[in-house]
Amino acid sequence: MSSHPDHLYPVFDKMLPRSAKEALLGQSGAVIWMYGLSGSGKSTLANLLERRLHGDGRLVKVLDGDNIRSGLNRNLGFSDEDRLENIRRVSEVAKLFAECGVITITSFITPNNELRRLAREIIGEADLLEVYVKASFETCQIRDPKGLYAKVAAGEVKQFTGKDSAFEEPESPALVINTEAFSEEECLSQLLNAVIMKTTAR
Ligand code: ADX
Repeated sequence: MSSHPDHLYPVFDKMLPRSAKEALLGQSGAVIWMYGLSGSGKSTLANLLERRLHGDGRLVKVLDGDNIRSGLNRNLGFSDEDRLENIRRVSEVAKLFAECGVITITSFITPNNELRRLAREIIGEADLLEVYVKASFETCQIRDPKGLYAKVAAGEVKQFTGKDSAFEEPESPALVINTEAFSEEECLSQLLNAVIMKTTAR
């Protein structure tokens, strides 16, 4: 049951400001929102990016669909309503991390433009870098890193994104990483350039 807004008293102005935390860390918080089909390479790139940035002395946190759905969002499935709640919660959590100065990388399918808009509204354009990790359904099916596409073909997975649940092409991603056309190292380098621009051009 949701709480009644008339009985809530959120206080933000007495809290230590974000700038104090960013100064402590020597970096700016941001959210790198990576979306695309299951198997497109989001998690691989998110983990590579985290390690690279960490190696450069940045504090980073990855929020990944399968992990978050095993904990915070374990009560959610793959209906349109549950996917919306999944993205809403993750956006709020990512915002909390960014407000602490942490570079936060999210890895969620985020299958349609309504969900991408929701994330943008919650996090705010200034803190957000949207990255479409692009690979076709057929390529993801061949890669099948988790054996999930084989289960889908056997009829064991319902509401699967790209099959019986839609994946909408994005309207205006800030960055498209085509994992079919470029190697892992090339994709990482494209991503890294955009992240550095986002987190230093303030
Ligand atoms: S989202 O649509 O709500 O953004 P999310 O990224 O959290 O999805 O979860 C996707 C992951 O859940 C996939 O990488 C896959 O491992 C797993 N999964 C299990 N069932 C499904 C399904 N029906 N559709 C898509 N992914 C699924």
